[in-house]
Amino acid sequence: MKILIFLGPPGSGKGTQAKRLADKMKIPQIALGDILREEVRAGSEIGNKAKSFMNAGKLVPDEVTIELTRLRIGREDCRRGFILDGFPRSVVQADALDKMLAGKKWKIDRVIYFQIPEEAVVARLAERRSCKKCGAVYHLRHNPPKVAGKCDACGGELYQRDDDKENVIRSRFEVYAKQTRPLIERYSGAGELVELDASKPIDEVNVKLAAIAVVP
Ligand code: AP5
Repeated sequence: MKILIFLGPPGSGKGTQAKRLADKMKIPQIALGDILREEVRAGSEIGNKAKSFMNAGKLVPDEVTIELTRLRIGREDCRRGFILDGFPRSVVQADALDKMLAGKKWKIDRVIYFQIPEEAVVARLAERRSCKKCGAVYHLRHNPPKVAGKCDACGGELYQRDDDKENVIRSRFEVYAKQTRPLIERYSGAGELVELDASKPIDEVNVKLAAIAVVP
């Protein structure tokens, strides 16, 4: 059983690394942003509620994300562990997660903090492209698809996220600084936090991450 939490600013590479590590460790990547975007695409009640928050770069209300996480970690494929990519992002969410895990007698193994300066990620996000079908993430320069506009994994169409516009990116950063950054101290105090230099190239970050995360 391995429970990992990926914490860090928008564009720090959480999703890119979570996908690779999850494949390697054969545990699911639980990406709240992907789950919410799927709900928006499906036009569900949750999606309709979440859409305006996401497009404004704000956090979707805690009760929504807490319930989605609770349901997701209750699924069979999470029994061997999972990577939480983008949850918790507020103190209320972190408290709720503690309760969920305590109820199952599970505990967090590591909280990986993706450390990177803001200016570096603004440039990354402007050139990010994501797959409409499977959610795979690309970068036009650092991690381009083999065929322009098409996903290597499933052939799906690549698109630019609505919240990757510069003014929304700035607002996501403000939200991160105010609501999510305080969690660094919380997990560091609990001895669970490990810092990762997320400004290095993708493969280099991946090697460092594996060394931190895949320990017995
Ligand atoms: P979410 O989708 O989780 O967005 P985020 O946290 O802002 O993170 P990103 O997906 O932007 O970045 P990332 O760190 O995963 O980086 P990536 O690997 O893609 O959430 C979106 C929205 O959903 C939120 O704003 C909120 O509204 C809502 N939401 C989600 N969770 C919530 C919660 N718990 N509570 C409330 N609301 C919630 O990489 C970025 C780019 O850089 C890519 O192009 C990639 O190819 C490239 N790249 C990655 N690593 C490197 C590297 N090392 N070098 C060069 N390029 C790199």
